[in-house]
Amino acid sequence: MTEPVTILGIESSCDDTAAAVVTYAPNERAVVESNLVADQALLHAQFGGVVPEIAARAHAEKLDIVVAQALKAAGRNLSQMDAIAVTSGPGLIGGVLSGVMCAKGLAAGSGKPLIGVNHLAGHALTPRLTDGLAFPYLLLLVSGGHCQFLEVRGIDDYRRLGGTIDDAPGEAFDKTAKLLGLGYPGGPEIEKIAENGDPKRFKFPRPLTDRDDCNMSFSGLKTALRREVENLQNSQGGINAQDQSDLAAGFQRAVTDVLVDKSTKALRQTPDATGFAVAGGVAANKAIGQSLKELAEARDLDFIQPPMKFCTDNAAMIAFAGAELFLSGVKHDMRLKARPRWPLDQNAAPILGAGKKGAKA
Ligand code: KG4
Ligand code: ZN
Repeated sequence: MTEPVTILGIESSCDDTAAAVVTYAPNERAVVESNLVADQALLHAQFGGVVPEIAARAHAEKLDIVVAQALKAAGRNLSQMDAIAVTSGPGLIGGVLSGVMCAKGLAAGSGKPLIGVNHLAGHALTPRLTDGLAFPYLLLLVSGGHCQFLEVRGIDDYRRLGGTIDDAPGEAFDKTAKLLGLGYPGGPEIEKIAENGDPKRFKFPRPLTDRDDCNMSFSGLKTALRREVENLQNSQGGINAQDQSDLAAGFQRAVTDVLVDKSTKALRQTPDATGFAVAGGVAANKAIGQSLKELAEARDLDFIQPPMKFCTDNAAMIAFAGAELFLSGVKHDMRLKARPRWPLDQNAAPILGAGKKGAKA
């Protein structure tokens, strides 16, 4: 039996400064000893999106504190770590650099090994952290910045089956919420008012569902919604609460239908999958989660929807991916580079579009 390893994880690739301590032994369930996130929502709210320079500066200021708190919450000190894992890409380069510099300092000071982790691998391996899912499995990553289907075949073996060619679904939820005069982030707001809405009143497109591939498009949905809002404004001088709910319900149903259609096609391309997992903020949507669960269960597949704190950006996933890499013999040194772009599947054709947080893969 392999001895358990304890890893400090650091994440700063977007707008969350995060640190965590995870202990893991192969074939056993990982233990998340601490998992801290300091978000920067307040700093970016007035700009309506993440400002890279502000994010980088805030990461640089907060990293030391969050790391110290994560160690303290785990009742550990640095000398008890087997290695230090850090997101070394893809993401906003200033933030990634801040994290990598911090990890290098800690590694140099403590003499501990350094491990660079791909942020997307962190998300992709999360079903193993939370549920011990065996390779290979199908993962749908849906958030404000990512949207792709991945066949996860090993710690460092991924096949991208498709992804969005324009907006990420979370981005579409956020923009739609803004059009409807709702707050940010838009996903939970839309979900809430959609409960009282009629999803059939307005006709929304299901882009690219006539195609057999796993690529998706969500920007047209937002345009269709804008047109409906304009029609209502012209015909009745504005939109009332019922219109809002019906629009939200129609939009949410359209996103769900696209994700179900493309998941069906992705599952067809992954007959050996041991399960179907989702990750990312949009995976928190109950209507979407329920539809995907039914799809998986109709195929006798396990459906894995990790708890929200492990779906959204966090450092436990980076520490866990670091543990898997460390156990497989991966170690980096002071030459570790921060990479703004780093596709998991190096052989896949590049995705044409980019999420609100810039091109991720
Ligand atoms: O994974 P995440 O926290 O951050 C990144 O984008 O990396 O995802 C945030 C996105 C936002 O766009 C938010 O509107 C969306 O996830 N979201 C939801 C829900 N909760 C969060 N979208 C739909 N339904 C939800 N319940
Ligand atoms: Zn992420």
